[in-house]
Amino acid sequence: MPVTGRLSFSNITALAPMVRVGTLPMRLLALDYGADVVYCEELIDIKMAQCQRVENEVLQTVDFVAPDDRVMFRTCERERDRVVFQMGTADPDRALTVAKLVEKDVAAVDVNMGCPKEYSTKGGMGAALLSDPDKIEAILRKLVAGVSVPVTCKIRILPSLEETISLVQRIQKTGVTAVAVHGRFKEERPRHPVHCDYIQAVAQAVSIPIIANGGSLDLVKTNTDIEEFRKATGASSVMLARAAMWNPSVFSSQGLLPVETVMEEYLKYAIRYDNNAFNTKYCLCQMLRDKVESPLGKQVQAAQTNAEISEAYGLQEFYQQTQDQLQARRDALQSDSQP
Ligand code: FNR
Repeated sequence: MPVTGRLSFSNITALAPMVRVGTLPMRLLALDYGADVVYCEELIDIKMAQCQRVENEVLQTVDFVAPDDRVMFRTCERERDRVVFQMGTADPDRALTVAKLVEKDVAAVDVNMGCPKEYSTKGGMGAALLSDPDKIEAILRKLVAGVSVPVTCKIRILPSLEETISLVQRIQKTGVTAVAVHGRFKEERPRHPVHCDYIQAVAQAVSIPIIANGGSLDLVKTNTDIEEFRKATGASSVMLARAAMWNPSVFSSQGLLPVETVMEEYLKYAIRYDNNAFNTKYCLCQMLRDKVESPLGKQVQAAQTNAEISEAYGLQEFYQQTQDQLQARRDALQSDSQP
């Protein structure tokens, strides 16, 4: 269903930002299964700022291409009104440069304030921002004033309820549209139970939509659990990372599909959008989970190209047809451009 006007974050279910997982095929699949909003993987401001925006007429995508020709971010019309661009940043000016680069192609921009991994925090980004609320405020105010799309951020909880609430109240004053709250402390690992009480207290203390996150593993395994998690946190919306990475059909109100079916649909998007083969493999291996050492899993791991991965799933014919279609488009474009 097309969204008219600005993207709303009230009463939505979102695919969480996930490095390597949240590329175009996964985002499109999550939308097909019923996610309302899809976040891209975290992209670092310095790298994005060097990218060129390229309209890829063959794939019918918009690509943000690095100086070494790597496609850092690929998007398309289908997700235009639903995709949130998440960046890693610790610098208001650079954040704005990147947001302006992508704003015409995305539905919202988000700042990662929750990643505890060293590559993020050592530059003052991710969870390091949580201890610098002045910086948070400067980045968010600059973005809100400078771009036409909604601005959001994703945080972790602070050591006490009072600190967490006061941070989110301060964030709300910057004019952001919503805040995703991953209900774990900076030091906690994904296996630790999520603190629904913190998310609930935050949701009560502010008027903007709070997006509850952290429920995969113990709370959210099926589609009906999403509503339970929403109720348990009193949040307006829910964001799923691992549950969606393992099987994105968790977004479907029709119930979970067998992961074999989901992997095939994933692979079709990966082929159609010429996804990086190593990225395709990575995502399929996440879905294979404990079957990663099965004969299929071993074949996927050994594959070096999307063509070889297609063979593992018996999708050679689909692969070939797609290549033929893309070649036909390439040829047509070339003859159009000839005088
Ligand atoms: C993540 N997470 C994450 N968070 C973020 O803000 N930006 C990112 O790029 C990533 N990358 C990422 C990759 C992978 C593989 C995982 C599993 C997680 C954290 C994620 O968005 C989420 O906050 C946590 O996983 C908790 O939510 P779930 O998994 O309990 O639904």
